[in-house]
This record gives sequence, C-alpha cells and structure tokens, in this order.
Amino acid sequence: MALIIDGKKISAEIKDELKEKVAQLKTSGVEITLAVIQVGNDPASSVYVGNKKKACEYIGIKSLAYELPESTTQEDLLSLIIKLNQDVSVNGILVQLPLPKHIDEDLVIKTIDPSKDVDGFHPQSVGALSIGQKGFLSCTPAGIIQLLKRSNISIEGKECVIIGRSNIVGKPMALLMLRENATVTICHSRTKNLAEVCKRADILIVAIGKPRFVTKEYVKDGAVVIDVGIHRNENNKLCGDVDYDDVVDKVSAITPVPGGVGPMTIAMLMNNCVESVL
Ligand code: GUN
Repeated sequence: MALIIDGKKISAEIKDELKEKVAQLKTSGVEITLAVIQVGNDPASSVYVGNKKKACEYIGIKSLAYELPESTTQEDLLSLIIKLNQDVSVNGILVQLPLPKHIDEDLVIKTIDPSKDVDGFHPQSVGALSIGQKGFLSCTPAGIIQLLKRSNISIEGKECVIIGRSNIVGKPMALLMLRENATVTICHSRTKNLAEVCKRADILIVAIGKPRFVTKEYVKDGAVVIDVGIHRNENNKLCGDVDYDDVVDKVSAITPVPGGVGPMTIAMLMNNCVESVL
C-alpha cells in the first residue's frame, strides 16, 4: 500500500510551529509584516492571495494588502516596491505572479530588496541557493523537501528525476535535491525517451503543467512520486500532472492533488516570513 503524503496535515504542523515562534518573537517585541501585492484580478491569483492573507492571520503575521488595478503602470508598481523596500516596518514583499503583459516580471522581481524576497525569486536568492549560501528558498521546492523529510523518506544517494525546468519550481528543486545529496536529472520538453528516464527515478517530481501526463509507464516500482501540477479535469474536478489512479498501486509514496504539494507552498512562505526577522 502506498503512503499517501498528507500535505494538508504536514503544512498544518509547520504553521502551528511557526505560530508558536511568532508568539515568542512578539514577547520580545518583534512583529512580522508581509506586504502582498496583486495587480489585476485574475481569479486564481485572488484565491492564492486570499489564502496567503489567511495564513498570515492564523500565524500572527501582519499582512498589508495592495490590490492594484490591471491598468497599473510598471513605473507605479516599481515605486511601490521601492517604498516598501525602504519601509523598515515591512519584513517581506510578495508580488503575486503572473503580472499583466505590459509589466516586466523580471524587472519587478529584481527590484525587491533580496532581504525581503520571501518568495525566493530574486536572482540573488536563486544564486545563493546555487552556490550553497544562505538566502530565501523558493517556497514550492522547499515545501517538497519538507514533505519528504517529515514523511521519513530519505533523499541522500537517491536517483531524483524532475520533469520541468521553470525558475520557480524545476530549477530550484534540482538545486535543493542536490543539496540533500540526491543524484539529480532535470527533464524537459526536448528530453528524449522521457518515460525511460523517469523510470530510473527513486523520487520522481513532476512539474510539467499537463493534466495526468505521468502514467505507470513513467514510474519505477516502489518510486516516490511528487505531483506539483494542479488542473481542473473535464468533470471540473481537481487533478495533477500525474495520473494518480494509474500509478498509485505501483508507488511507495505519492502526493495527492489537492492536499499534497499545494498547501506546502504557503506554509513555506510563512516560514520565509519568520526567517526574515531572524
Ligand atoms: N504565482 C504562482 N505561484 C506563485 C508563488 O509562489 N508566488 C508568487 N508571488 N506568485 C505565484
């Protein structure tokens, strides 16, 4: 029987640990403030931003909401970020992505002070990770490491295959698994014999962005499968990048969708907010 990795429960544990830490910090006069910026009203972004605010409230972090219209100019957004960079009462700055097309996302991320980059997207944060120095970790990959560790799944020496090379998930995931002493392969749209490569994996991490793409032909017997995808299927039900029903009898552990990786991203964002004052 496969272990169904309960991301909801593990994220709740992490949030409770953080809540306690935040309460302790408060007794020594330290308050944490996160600025959350959303441009436009993409419904998915609104849900994510709402969940981030709720998590802040639960843990005891003050959140400042900046809900800017779709028509906001790049200049105005950058000015707001610069103002928040200079505001010593603000510890973390989060700009919800994606941004409207007329705004240069890379420039926006680069403008955030790396010491407040709780998303871990700034080139300095990514660079620090790549050379083993301290910096904010990208939340989804950091959450996946926590899922593995808190499920007692050892990483050291394991064959880890990652499908997807995005800056937010695939690349930082590879660096984190390498830091944990896994042997890491990154696959992408031009990878030849993808199923064969994936079948080598002790730990298969899937962030390809295609619903139910990974079937049992991609999975070794007893592998651990981590599903980063989230989609709505033809019946309006949530599903991941992995065909869960097809692979579940073959794996030793798997994350469900929903309730696997998803809740971990926010828990790790909260963790980064706490780290920003330590
Ligand atoms: N859009 C999708 N995922 C994320 C995330 O983790 N952080 C931000 N800022 N935007 C996102």
